[in-house]
Amino acid sequence: RETNRFWVQGLHLQRLQLASGTNAKKDWSDHALWWEKKKTWLLKTHWTLDKYGIQADARLLFTPQHKLLRLQLPNMKHMKVKVNFSDRVFKAVSDICKTFNIRHPEELSLLRKPRDPKKKKKKLEECEEEALELEGIYSSPGLYSKTMTPTYDSRDGSPLSPTSAWFGDSPLSEGNPSILAVSQPISSPDILVKLYKPPSLLDKAKINQGWLDSSRSLMEQDVKENEVLLLRFKYHSFFDLNPKYDAIRVNQLYEQAKWAILLEEIECTEEEMMMFAALQYHINKLSIMSSDNHMKNSENEVDEVDAALSDLEITLEGGKTSNTLGDITSIPELADYVKVFKPKKLTLKGPKQYWCTFKDITISCYKSREEAHGIPAHQMNLRGCEVTPDVNISGQKFNIKLLIPVADGMNEIWMRCDTEKQYAQWMAACRLASKGKTMADSSYNLEVQNILSFLKMQHMNPDPQIIEPITTDINPECLVSPRYLKKYKNKQISARILEAHQNVAQMSLIEAKMRFIQAWQSLPEFGITHFLAKEELIGITYNRLIRIDASTRDAIKTWRFSNMKQWNVNWEIKMVTVEFADEPSLSFICAEVDCKVVHEFIGGYIFLSTRAKDQNESLDEEMFYKLTSGWV
Ligand SMILES: *[C@@H]1O[C@H](CO)[C@@H](O)[C@H](O)[C@H]1NC(C)=O
Ligand SMILES: *[C@@H]1O[C@H](CO)[C@@H](O)[C@H](O)[C@H]1NC(C)=O
Ligand SMILES: *[C@@H]1O[C@H](CO)[C@@H](O)[C@H](O)[C@H]1NC(C)=O
Repeated sequence: RETNRFWVQGLHLQRLQLASGTNAKKDWSDHALWWEKKKTWLLKTHWTLDKYGIQADARLLFTPQHKLLRLQLPNMKHMKVKVNFSDRVFKAVSDICKTFNIRHPEELSLLRKPRDPKKKKKKLEECEEEALELEGIYSSPGLYSKTMTPTYDSRDGSPLSPTSAWFGDSPLSEGNPSILAVSQPISSPDILVKLYKPPSLLDKAKINQGWLDSSRSLMEQDVKENEVLLLRFKYHSFFDLNPKYDAIRVNQLYEQAKWAILLEEIECTEEEMMMFAALQYHINKLSIMSSDNHMKNSENEVDEVDAALSDLEITLEGGKTSNTLGDITSIPELADYVKVFKPKKLTLKGPKQYWCTFKDITISCYKSREEAHGIPAHQMNLRGCEVTPDVNISGQKFNIKLLIPVADGMNEIWMRCDTEKQYAQWMAACRLASKGKTMADSSYNLEVQNILSFLKMQHMNPDPQIIEPITTDINPECLVSPRYLKKYKNKQISARILEAHQNVAQMSLIEAKMRFIQAWQSLPEFGITHFLAKEELIGITYNRLIRIDASTRDAIKTWRFSNMKQWNVNWEIKMVTVEFADEPSLSFICAEVDCKVVHEFIGGYIFLSTRAKDQNESLDEEMFYKLTSGWV
């Protein structure tokens, strides 16, 4: 009994005895030893007990590695899934995504359910979950028991076996997309009202404390069998989103966006809310139709997707490698009359009109067109600035709010455009310039088009003739956030949604979902993950770190990853320090959040930004670990 090896051999014998005894079918291969006190799995069977530091009185648990987890998917439905509790979370998520046929699992992770201190009663919570349970669909517990073969083609992401096979008696038959690819309308407004509690930035920061550590196992992080964990897109950088291969990924992403908007986890304007509602209404309608017709049309679907895609060139910013070479000889420029102003609350000075030119990443403002060859009255370099829209389409207000980094913080400048076209051109140029790119970048025209279509989707249609009669199939209570139900009558909301619907009524199902995701990405607060540092709020996005004023939600200062030299964590004092090429480093103390979570977000985004479209699917897992586990 001196060595672990001997001990494991003994265990082995025991297994054989069991196997040849009464319960011949019992398979022990999934079992392993768990050392409860030290919270570690003893997976290295060639190690001695001594090497593990185990004494005679240690209590070891011989327990299955695979256990059931109740996963809440981005669409808020719960599913029971068998997960390897001894795998690193990163690998476990990767397996879960394989089960659900979701490509790019590195973009997702598991989040603990935020505890509501005011709602201690467990019963209430369970009720909520019950209401959202997916009926009759549970991934079979034996899912992993036979083989661990991937269920999708890693090259194109297509299912290798009919997805229906995974879900046993699923009502959807062969050739159908899995039910996870179909959006289910919210069935009752009560669910929305119950869940609705618009979080403040501080609340959002608290939620982010719940991200699990990717480099440790579920068991090591005290996750219990049958516990509810949330599966979410963690990094808001969606690589190579392709409706042809990503039916489930697109749908779950759409669902995550939909709930974020309905629960006001992300801010949007009233016009935007109506546009999102119209898209939702459209998607709900088409989803019902497509599941009715799917038997007949599954062949056409692919053609439809192709057709939609040829019209809709989709770029999703994060992780995208853009062609900056372009035509260097002639970088496009903008020159126009634009109103420019500083929001000085104490002065009555309104917007003043200037002749402005936009060259490279610099805006120069002159008193008039004639003086454009002289010295500009103002000049702004937009690299690293924060660009925020302030738009009211019915009020014909097209403002661009710029927060430009200066030595002691951010300089706030507003620009007011007269038309949608002008706004789209300048806004697109500002967005690129903030990332250090010029209008020569291949994404410029696409960005302009995206902004225009985003605005167009919010247009009001004054012609009452073409408005559909108010039908009974519209449930405004399930399409807008509960705040609007207090503000307006349901009838009024229905009318506005139907009006807005005309802008999107021609879209195919997949296009509508992609547009929804794209519009979500256009919201100013999109993709900012908030953390509570000591006495300050830090935001992390795919390309920058932001120090945020929690009360105004404004950026106090930003730091770009592109400018970063290195970062490190002092685990003892819980301090993250990020060093930059040409500016003082940023340091902050992780307050309630584990530094590992922050560390992983920075490393994760750095890793994701290195992905390139022409690369093969295979993920450099080790690299991801290195960047996210504190080894760098
Ligand atoms: C579960 O994860 C552990 C740790 O990564 C691994 O050694 C084991 O083979 C996994 N079990 C199965 C059945 O894949
Ligand atoms: C937008 O403009 C319209 C028309 O001027 C106005 O009635 C409405 O209140 C404005 N909305 C917001 C959110 O400012
Ligand atoms: C990508 O994978 C395919 C097939 O798996 C292979 O033929 C090709 O050489 C790979 N390309 C690169 C750049 O690794």
